[in-house]
Amino acid sequence: MHFELTEEHRAVQEAARDFAKNELLPGVIQRDIESRFPAEEIKKMGELGFMGMMIDPKYNGGGMDTVSYVLAMEELSKIDASASVAMSVNNSLVCWGMEKYASEDQKEKYLKPLASGQKLGAFALSEPEAGSDATSQKTEAYLEGDHYVLNGTKNWITNGSKADTYLVFAQTDNSKGHKGISVFIVEKGWEGFTPGHKEDKLGIRASDTTSLMFTDVKVPVENRIGEEGFGFKYAMETLNGGRIGIAAQALGIAAGAYEFAVAYSKERKTFGKPICQHQAIQFKLADMATTIEAARLLVYKAAWLKDQGEDYSHASAMAKLYASQVAMDVSIEAVQIHGGYGYVREYHVERLMRDAKITQIYEGTSEIQKIVISRGILR
Ligand code: CAA
Ligand code: FAD
Repeated sequence: MHFELTEEHRAVQEAARDFAKNELLPGVIQRDIESRFPAEEIKKMGELGFMGMMIDPKYNGGGMDTVSYVLAMEELSKIDASASVAMSVNNSLVCWGMEKYASEDQKEKYLKPLASGQKLGAFALSEPEAGSDATSQKTEAYLEGDHYVLNGTKNWITNGSKADTYLVFAQTDNSKGHKGISVFIVEKGWEGFTPGHKEDKLGIRASDTTSLMFTDVKVPVENRIGEEGFGFKYAMETLNGGRIGIAAQALGIAAGAYEFAVAYSKERKTFGKPICQHQAIQFKLADMATTIEAARLLVYKAAWLKDQGEDYSHASAMAKLYASQVAMDVSIEAVQIHGGYGYVREYHVERLMRDAKITQIYEGTSEIQKIVISRGILR
């Protein structure tokens, strides 16, 4: 057993760290205030290879391992979780699943521009009445000749109005329950498909979250991924990997808040000395560092298992459950260490605290992770 990162891993980490500092940090507060999508920044992330990191170069991807992806997610999330969630969805939920399950024609047409970052993807599983209870899909698609007719509403979709390519889950046979769910590739602008209103959120405010409406949208049969009824398996398998990405995002939020707190504690003086010389602050930093390190081990281990071709569903759920709790705990303490300054935007930690909360909700709430973990234990 060894815990060393390779030279390649370190190079990816450094590139992501530089990008976060030079390109994401300068506008992050303003984008949060204005709920403005980081379109330019995401375009640059594509040019640097961050949008299809794990995809084979023959499909315009970076050909990297999951550990590299996690390292990049961690660094970017220290500064801008709105940018990193767009990256996470594109990498793990859209590109990874397409590479594994889509046809060669679909990969040629859709995966290549997504993996290179020329186009942006979205993953549309959740509905107004099907979030945790994801098998209760109301969206329907029925075959009519050489196309399906798609009707329904999706909720909370990341990159909702900004994406070009959407993976949409729909019932193709209600009598079969979750085994009657299929997954389709839908393009922006198709007749009958409109993004709904943008959500006004607590955190990740610059991320674009919208509902999606489908009214008699014609989807060619060749845009179905896999067989009819394969959709729920596609969703669960991609979410197993997606949860590693969100766990890395949570880890990054925690580590970012911690780094701001350490730096501030060395500068701020009370009672004649820097606050880091008060034991109460030192103990907070010690707890923060320890839980971050524990989260990091879980996240890297889940990524490593995936790279070894081992089962990682259990490990990814554990990593997300724990890292998201650490993101909450650490970001709250980081605000506390900043005192009043922590409560205003300028010092970044209040944003990280608001951003942390979503990591306990999306890609399966913490309660759902516990269901996945306990089912694994009792299986
Ligand atoms: N990996 C692989 N397969 C899984 C799985 C997993 N983690 N979890 C469930 N399955 C399979 C089961 O084995 C079962 O397959 P079979 O019928 O072939 O045996 C099938 O899925 C149905 O499972 P259950 O019978 O356990 O179904 P359930 O309804 O009791 O519970 C659930 C399923 C685990 C709760 C599931 O609905 C779930 O994961 N819910 C959360 C949904 C979610 O994570 N949504 C995220 C949306 S995307 C997003 O959020 C993106 C973002 O924010 C950026
Ligand atoms: P509910 O399922 O209604 O849950 C409400 C509460 O009940 C939660 O605390 C939950 O944990 C608990 N609960 C539910 N069932 C159980 C149970 N069996 N046992 C114990 N507790 C339970 N979805 C997508 O498909 N694509 C996206 O890109 C996407 N992006 C998102 C971005 C944002 C900002 C947000 C807020 C959501 C996003 N989602 C996306 C949806 C997200 O995955 C769901 O919100 C999440 O799965 C929870 O579903 P829900 O909101 O319907 O809550």
